[in-house]
Order: sequence, then C-alpha cells, then structure tokens
Amino acid sequence: MQTRLTKALAIDHPIISAPMGFAAGGRLAAAVTSAGGLGLIGGGYGDADWLEREFAEAGDVRVGCGLITWSLAKKPELLELVLGRRPAAVMLSFGGLAPFAERIKTSGAKLICQVQTLALAREAVAAGADVVVAQGTEAGGHVQERTTFTLVPEIADYLAGAAPATLLAAAGGIVDGRTLAAVLMLGADGAVVGSRFWASAEALVHKGLQAAAIAADGDSTLRTRVADVARRIDWPRQFPARMLKTRFAMQWHGRETELAESGTREREEARYWQGFRTGDAENTCVLTSEAVGLIRDVAPAGEIVRRMVSEAEQRMARPR
Ligand SMILES: Cc1cc2nc3c(=O)[nH]c(=O)nc-3n(C[C@H](O)[C@H](O)[C@H](O)COP(=O)(O)O)c2cc1C
Repeated sequence: MQTRLTKALAIDHPIISAPMGFAAGGRLAAAVTSAGGLGLIGGGYGDADWLEREFAEAGDVRVGCGLITWSLAKKPELLELVLGRRPAAVMLSFGGLAPFAERIKTSGAKLICQVQTLALAREAVAAGADVVVAQGTEAGGHVQERTTFTLVPEIADYLAGAAPATLLAAAGGIVDGRTLAAVLMLGADGAVVGSRFWASAEALVHKGLQAAAIAADGDSTLRTRVADVARRIDWPRQFPARMLKTRFAMQWHGRETELAESGTREREEARYWQGFRTGDAENTCVLTSEAVGLIRDVAPAGEIVRRMVSEAEQRMARPR
C-alpha cells in the first residue's frame, strides 16, 4: 500500500508503530518493520540501560525510536545514545522540539513530531519535521482535546499550504483497516498505531492488562492525571492520559490532590506498581485508546499489520 509516507520512509505499508514508553520494545518494533511498516522503540522518559537492551533486541532490523521532549530536556545525553544506534527515525512528542530537532536531522534520521494542536503543528514545521503526526484525543496515553476526525484534515490543509513537502501521519483511534482507510481519506499519508500494537504478542505488556483491555468497550476510558500523580511523573498539566476506568483510576480521578498527600501516595504508588507488575488491572492504570472496543484479540504484530492493510485495501476498493 504505497503513499508519500511509504516512499519517504522506504517501507511497504503506511503504518508506524507508536513509541509507547516501555511497552514498545525492540521485538515489537522489529516485528512491525519486518511486516512492512516502521517500528518505533518507546524510549518514554528515558532509561539508558533499557534503550540499549531494546535496540539490541531489534538486532539489525531497521527501527526508529520515540522520546518525550520535556523528559529528554532533563537527560539530553540520551539523544546521542539513540542516534548512535542509527535509527531510521526519531519521533519527538509533547512540545519543546527546538533543542533536539536540528541534531536529529543532521544525523540523517527522519524527524517525526507528534502534535495535538494546530499551534504545535506550526512549531513542528518550523523545527523542520519530515513527518507531523496529528494525534487526536482518542489516542491511548497522553493526549489533548482535539479529535482525530477534525485535527487530521485541518493539519492536512495547513501543511498543503505552508509546507507541502512535510508529510502527515494520523494517530488516535486507528486500530483496523476501516480506521486506517478513514485517516487516509482525511488527508493523512499514513498512521501511527499504538494501542492495537500494545495488544500484540511482542509488546512488553502483562497478559492480564491486555485481557482487561480486550474485555473493555470504548465507553470504558477516561482522561485523567491519576497515573502520573501516583507514579510521581511531573507531566505538563495540558496532557492528561487516556486509560481504562479501572477501580484505581476511578477511585482517585478528581481527588488527585488527596492522592498526592504524603502517606497516601506511598501506599497507592506501591499498589499501582504491584498491580502493574502482576497484571491486576483494577489495582493499577491501563493506558489505552478510546478505540479499545475495536481491539478483540492479542495477535502477532506482523499479523496486525497484514490485517489492517488488507482490510483497508478492500474498503477503499469497495463500490459505494
Ligand atoms: C500504553 C501507551 C503508552 C504510550 N507512550 C507514549 C510515549 O511514551 N511517547 C509518545 O510519544 N506517545 C506515547 N503514546 C501515544 C502514542 O504515541 C500514540 O499517539 C497513540 O497510541 C495513538 O493512539 P492509539 O492508541 O489509539 O493507536 C502511548 C500510547 C499508549 C497506548
């Protein structure tokens, strides 16, 4: 399935797997690339040992890596570690691109910038992004408010006028062939897919958490700061995270100040990580997409790519 994105990235299908922090390791990224997409390792908040290990897991398969800018600003040396592994692309998310964009571009890696608003899309263009990822609020993980359905065509129009050589990928709610075909129709050159690959055999995710997501429908997510308060991760306020309405999330949503009180936080932080490690979804937070109701199995990542592409092709060829 060829688009401008497949040509620019030298891949067969316009699918990039999202750099989901600590869930998207080298095996997942390599599986997505091997199936014709581009796999990204989820560098998240940046841990040098983890990054080294996961790049090693990918072996000599061509993969990229994603980093969270405000966190990278605290550990800028990690960018050199990543660039030393000669990634095909580096994806920067959540603002503050300027300190890193130039260095990524001179390394030869493609610069992919994930944005949630028109204002951030303009910043990405100014920073020289090769690919802008328009992330709608349907996405799993940290998001803002705009929906994929309106953000993607608006950024497509903006790029067509202001930066026609800059490519556009859509993220947020793309889990199958229908949703892939839909974002191509909205003007995207491809898709960044997170939650669907989180529910893959290669993802670094406990089976119990995957099972909870598969059992959930799309009414079962909310955006909240609960996970970040419990984990003591100091996210900028404008980025709550979308997750399942687990008992943990619902118990503390709206009571984040209380959750942060000393004593309470120690207890709940331990409960969060215990639930996370043991796959006890109700006693932790499960970051996932509003499209979770369309994810019905845990499948190998290569199989997910093949299903998405063949269903999208069928949908687009179907007479109306
Ligand atoms: C579990 C999980 C962790 C994520 N972690 C990150 C991250 O560390 N950095 C990042 O840029 N995006 C992260 N994202 C967001 C993805 O990059 C992407 O925008 C999102 O998954 C797309 O929406 P979808 O989940 O509906 O496919 C994460 C998403 C999920 C589901």
